[in-house]
Amino acid sequence: MNSDSIKQLRRERKGHEFGDKIYLINKTGSTQNHARSLVIKSIKPLHGTIIIAREQLCGRGRLGRKWLSPAGGLWMSIIMKRGLTTKRTPIIQFLAALSVGDSILEMTGLQCTYKWPNDILVKGKKICGILLEVDFQGNKVKTVITGIGLNANFPASNIFQSKNLTLRSEVTTLRDELNYDVSLFGLAKLILEKLEHYYGLLKKDKIKVIMDLWKHRSEPFDRFVTIKDGKDTFQARTLGVNNKGILKVELSNGSVKEVIFGDVDYDVMTKVRT
Ligand code: BTN
Repeated sequence: MNSDSIKQLRRERKGHEFGDKIYLINKTGSTQNHARSLVIKSIKPLHGTIIIAREQLCGRGRLGRKWLSPAGGLWMSIIMKRGLTTKRTPIIQFLAALSVGDSILEMTGLQCTYKWPNDILVKGKKICGILLEVDFQGNKVKTVITGIGLNANFPASNIFQSKNLTLRSEVTTLRDELNYDVSLFGLAKLILEKLEHYYGLLKKDKIKVIMDLWKHRSEPFDRFVTIKDGKDTFQARTLGVNNKGILKVELSNGSVKEVIFGDVDYDVMTKVRT
């Protein structure tokens, strides 16, 4: 993303809910931290402010994991402050995933699928992750910082060279899928447009519409999985996701458990039931 394209992105987003103010940073620890420091310092309205980094040195993933963020990826955080309620907040991760999935499809023709809670996959491999960081004041949601990490113009081998090799078959990038580089500016523009559309639906409480779209493209349920839920790890069969964004699973004793927060690994040796 060069300085001309960021100027154009700024021009295109002027006056819009998302992207009226865009910071572009060459290298930063994490765009999430940059966003947080703006929130702490600023007295200006920050809703819809975007932070994009060319490279992150300490990118953060879900559940405290490191997120490798070399140059060529789209590493971006969005500050959200308006229209937040405790019911709407968990839905942001699903609408952010939809925004990315729609944008990838529109720009490249690649069809994405979604994996609970907030992974975006192409041909079963993770191409993008979403990180929601929520600040409360008392029991009110005050700020949500939504991080989007999209593996774009670099080979996935750049990531697994410096990471656990078992990830090799599980991670992909747009470059690996397409054999050419995409315009990060074009992608960011599309994502912000779609985010604004879906966020508009959220503010009208059209949660079912959002969740139905997400479910339509989600990885199939009725699968045997291993779930890491806080400190617990257990096996279960996925039943589906409800309109609160909660994953329902069946345990081996037949009881149904709701998983609000956690990580899901598909069990390799078991098949989807037919
Ligand atoms: C995941 O674990 O799947 C979520 C990854 C989120 C990564 C993005 S990159 C932009 C933003 N800044 C970060 O440090 N993390 C998020």
